[in-house]
Amino acid sequence: MTATTSRRHLLGGLGALAATAFVPSAQAASGQKPRVVDIPDIVQMRTLGSGAAAMHVTALGFGCMGMSYHRSETPDATMLKRVVAQAYDLGVNFFDTAQVYGRVRAQNEKFVGQAIAPFKNRIQVASKFGFVFDEHEKKIEGRFDSRPENIRRVCEESLKNLGIEAIDLFYQHRFDPAVPVEDVAGTVADLIKEGKVKHFGMCEVGPNTIRAAHKECPVTAIQSEYHLMWREPETKVFPVLQELGIGFVPYSPLNRGFLGGTVNEYTQFDVTNDNRHTLPRFTPQALRANYRIVEVLNHFGRTHGMTSSQIALLWMLDKADWIVPIPGTTKLSHLEENLRSLDFKVSRTEWTELEKQVAAVDIVGDRYPAEQQNQINSN
Ligand SMILES: NC(=O)c1ccc[n+]([C@@H]2O[C@H](COP(=O)([O-])OP(=O)(O)OC[C@H]3O[C@@H](n4cnc5c(N)ncnc54)[C@H](OP(=O)(O)O)[C@@H]3O)[C@@H](O)[C@H]2O)c1
Repeated sequence: MTATTSRRHLLGGLGALAATAFVPSAQAASGQKPRVVDIPDIVQMRTLGSGAAAMHVTALGFGCMGMSYHRSETPDATMLKRVVAQAYDLGVNFFDTAQVYGRVRAQNEKFVGQAIAPFKNRIQVASKFGFVFDEHEKKIEGRFDSRPENIRRVCEESLKNLGIEAIDLFYQHRFDPAVPVEDVAGTVADLIKEGKVKHFGMCEVGPNTIRAAHKECPVTAIQSEYHLMWREPETKVFPVLQELGIGFVPYSPLNRGFLGGTVNEYTQFDVTNDNRHTLPRFTPQALRANYRIVEVLNHFGRTHGMTSSQIALLWMLDKADWIVPIPGTTKLSHLEENLRSLDFKVSRTEWTELEKQVAAVDIVGDRYPAEQQNQINSN
């Protein structure tokens, strides 16, 4: 089966673009020979949000941040574009970026704009607003700007950077204590009416903030950190999402690569472009102690023929059908491995046993340093 066939079959199965529609692969569109992939369809569809705010996306999205920001060395742009194109060819239709991703403002958005150009009208792109930059276009730590005029400015810039006519999902990246959430939601509601944005999302916010925003503009998805080493959203946020019919997009679903088993106490992070060296869970001591969790996943995975990444992803995919993780990678092999998580079946009893084994390991180090954790809205 070619990548083209695989993708056409997926879309036909959805009844969305009708089986008769010819959907060229990204490689074909860019003039390259399509890669032959003898694999079954490896993504399914899910719905984030409800009613008029519903958005239909593949069960696994693709996080583009690490291609320019916070994940140390990356391959060159040509290779990275191939990875994005391959994600599309394997069926992924949901790509995540943000104004803040990059050594300078919008570096990642601009890259994503180029990478998705051959198939931009057949996918959905999420981006985010809310940070402040200095005169060199670098993010100013701890400063936020969700004033309506800035949201509008970022929207215009993002549309241009991404080369699209509407942002499919526009998130407030961090809560801004200086701007009432009603004003933020109201501004995005206006952008939706104007056709510049299709859906509204927020990152790392608590239940009351979600409720207040949702009254003003129906929220499609909340994006927060969530994985086997950070399950806090389950207690306070998930019940509200279920009640209001809002979707959940876990970011860093592999805990920034750690659960994939390729990061350990000897890993050297590029201190100029990788935030992991600042995170308490990524000190050599913490990595050494926490590696027991990877061992638990590896042991569990061996009995199912799965890798630790696949376990980490399928675990959250099996929690609820309104959860859509967005793992990031710069490697074709990791991309395919991650998307194949959906090929496996694990029973509820087995997941409970895995959760017990992971909970038995005392995790060393907080997920964020105190000043960053304080920027998280938990109200
Ligand atoms: N809203 C927010 O505040 C926020 C914050 C952070 C991230 N995000 C979003 O979430 C996305 C994903 O987050 P993330 O990049 O922090 O974390 P992640 O997806 O948990 O991990 C990415 C890292 O895992 C490695 N990896 C991927 N697949 C692997 C596999 N099968 N085996 C071993 N290693 C593997 C990647 O390295 P290789 O390149 O070597 O594969 C990469 O360094 C981002 O791209 C971004 O869009 C949002």
